[in-house]
Amino acid sequence: MGRASEPRGVDRVRLSQVAPDDEAEFLAAVRRSRRLHRPWVHPPATSKAFRGYLERTADDRFVALVARVQGGQLAAVVNVSEMVRGGFCSAYLGYYAFEPFAGRGMMTRALAQAISMAFGHYGLHRLEANIQPGNAASRALVQKLGFELEGFSQRYLKVGGRWRDHERWALRKEIWRPKTLLGQILHSGRQP
Ligand SMILES: CC(C)(COP(=O)(O)OP(=O)(O)OC[C@H]1O[C@@H](n2cnc3c(N)ncnc32)[C@H](O)[C@@H]1OP(=O)(O)O)[C@@H](O)C(=O)NCCC(=O)NCCS
Repeated sequence: MGRASEPRGVDRVRLSQVAPDDEAEFLAAVRRSRRLHRPWVHPPATSKAFRGYLERTADDRFVALVARVQGGQLAAVVNVSEMVRGGFCSAYLGYYAFEPFAGRGMMTRALAQAISMAFGHYGLHRLEANIQPGNAASRALVQKLGFELEGFSQRYLKVGGRWRDHERWALRKEIWRPKTLLGQILHSGRQP
């Protein structure tokens, strides 16, 4: 996708829960990111779908986070869903970046914050990310964050109306090393 100008502030990312006021900006971001998202994710793209997304947050097993870069622009979404407590303390992680912020290390930062929140504030022990085998960017992202490949499930999730194979990647609290990761990011030279 062509970029009019290099986005700024991607090295500072702030997460917050999605809110009704985000609707217009969210839908515009989804529209301009369609090429990035397909065929991997199908985010809410209409006002009705966005309201349905907000309604899901009434369930305390679902947390929808938006990431904003310095300057306040909406840059990504991270969803923590199906949080199961008790002896399992596990949830699924879903995520997508918005143009023009993809491929700049912003998502690594946003996901790292969401993971720390899930293990800290929400008391989870395990996070699972289900990834289609051809999704090289998503595989690279979770590998960088320390997720381990646990398995492969055929026709596991329906995405875009079709059952699709997925790899199951997982991260446990005891192997989460946010400080090491932050050091890698700071020394990688990947600055905007
Ligand atoms: C997957 C996605 C969130 C990755 O976001 P991103 O902005 O590229 O993430 P980052 O910039 O933080 O990069 C993370 C790592 O992935 C690598 N990466 C990015 N795109 C890649 C690609 N196409 N192939 C291989 N590696 C890639 C980066 O190089 C980086 O590693 P590095 O820092 O060691 O170089 C983004 O591509 C996206 O929104 N895709 C569509 C939605 C989607 O697939 N969601 C996940 C569904 S499981």
